[in-house]
Amino acid sequence: MRNKVTKAIFPVAGLGTRFLPATKSVPKEIMTLVDRPLIQYAIDEARAAGIKEFIFVTSRGKGALEDYFDHAPTLEQELRKKGKDDLLEILKNTNMESGAIAYIRQHKALGLGHAVWCARRLIGNEPFAVILPDDVIAAEKPCLQQMVEAYEETGGNMVAAMEVPPERASAYGVLDVQEDMGAMVRVKGMVEKPKADEAPSNLAVIGRYILNPKVLGNLNRMKSGTGGEIQLTDAIADEIAQDRAVYGYRFRGQRFDCGSKAGFLQATVAFGLSRDELKDDLYRYLQEIVTVGKAAQ
Ligand code: UTP
Repeated sequence: MRNKVTKAIFPVAGLGTRFLPATKSVPKEIMTLVDRPLIQYAIDEARAAGIKEFIFVTSRGKGALEDYFDHAPTLEQELRKKGKDDLLEILKNTNMESGAIAYIRQHKALGLGHAVWCARRLIGNEPFAVILPDDVIAAEKPCLQQMVEAYEETGGNMVAAMEVPPERASAYGVLDVQEDMGAMVRVKGMVEKPKADEAPSNLAVIGRYILNPKVLGNLNRMKSGTGGEIQLTDAIADEIAQDRAVYGYRFRGQRFDCGSKAGFLQATVAFGLSRDELKDDLYRYLQEIVTVGKAAQ
């Protein structure tokens, strides 16, 4: 029997410089798509995949995240008094069972691999998921759930993969494919941010992973890689070198890069259009500005 994946790491210790000045005082993960912060989308996806323990790797200035998952007694009391049961129900999704959530500090932003390594003592010897909340994925079946189901068949390490145009590959970790099985590919190498003409394929890794705890051991030995950061990609590629399987999983769904302004705006429009109470007005507005070719000045 394979161990179930019940723990997830949410690395949220990055500086979020692409959203300055907003991220000077607001953690990127608290920024909202319509009315829900990015982190809520990530948590909902993790819950749907059967995750029971939520480990946040945070840094200075991320206090708003901890408050977000706490009870808000005054607010709840006020809503109860006013009979606003619908709003109380919405708030329920933001509460975590006591002990289900843990916060670890990454004292220096030394890279995604280092952030994951900071959680090693809470992971122990079990497979675990990593979710980057900046990558928001709209999907009928949540992306991590698709991956957990596939993982139950294969084991090994698994990364979410997406086809990207060749000129975009250098912005991602890219898979060197050994065998293409359709939804899954067996991987024989991984390169972080390859030069434009050196990408081994057009399959890019995005922010969902299911990893063998041995990856944490690989991170132990790791020195900084591309961009002077400790790269998670390098630690996963190390698994291949030690003859342990790494798979890429072509998920079904649309991924938005909410770590970039353009991606965040696209996600806002897409999630706005998916809401019954907003879609008509928003659609009309979009049509209008496209026709007239002019937005707010
Ligand atoms: P990004 O590369 O998007 O970096 O990190 P960033 O700092 O969040 O944003 P920019 O580029 O300055 O605008 C990808 C993910 O890895 C986490 C981030 O919080 C984000 O979820 N991360 C990155 C860490 O937790 N620690 C790090 O040292 C680096």
